[in-house]
Amino acid sequence: EGGTFLKHQGQVARHFVGDRILPLTGPAPENIPPGYGAVVRRGGAQWAVHRDEKGRLQAVSARCTHLGCIVAFNHAEQAWECPCHGSRFAPDGRILQGPAVRPLKKRDL
Ligand code: FES
Repeated sequence: EGGTFLKHQGQVARHFVGDRILPLTGPAPENIPPGYGAVVRRGGAQWAVHRDEKGRLQAVSARCTHLGCIVAFNHAEQAWECPCHGSRFAPDGRILQGPAVRPLKKRDL
């Protein structure tokens, strides 16, 4: 039930269930521990959900505003990173590094 989180392969957080490591596509946001982010499915969309050290959740679209790849959370950097061309975003969606020029859109959890 629930499972735990761990850092794995280049600091991308994965969902750990038993002895299987699963990509983070669908854990309930309430299972995200402080300081971690996870990509969760909501309807037909994928949201990037982060919990800060005070326990507050915030969500943005997981779709990179450059060309639409799905971002992954870098725990060490506390940033959403795009695997396609290297854009980086803060947990609230602000751009940290291009080529993206627009922030990730905020979503209401
Ligand atoms: Fe994300 Fe290009 S699609 S950086």
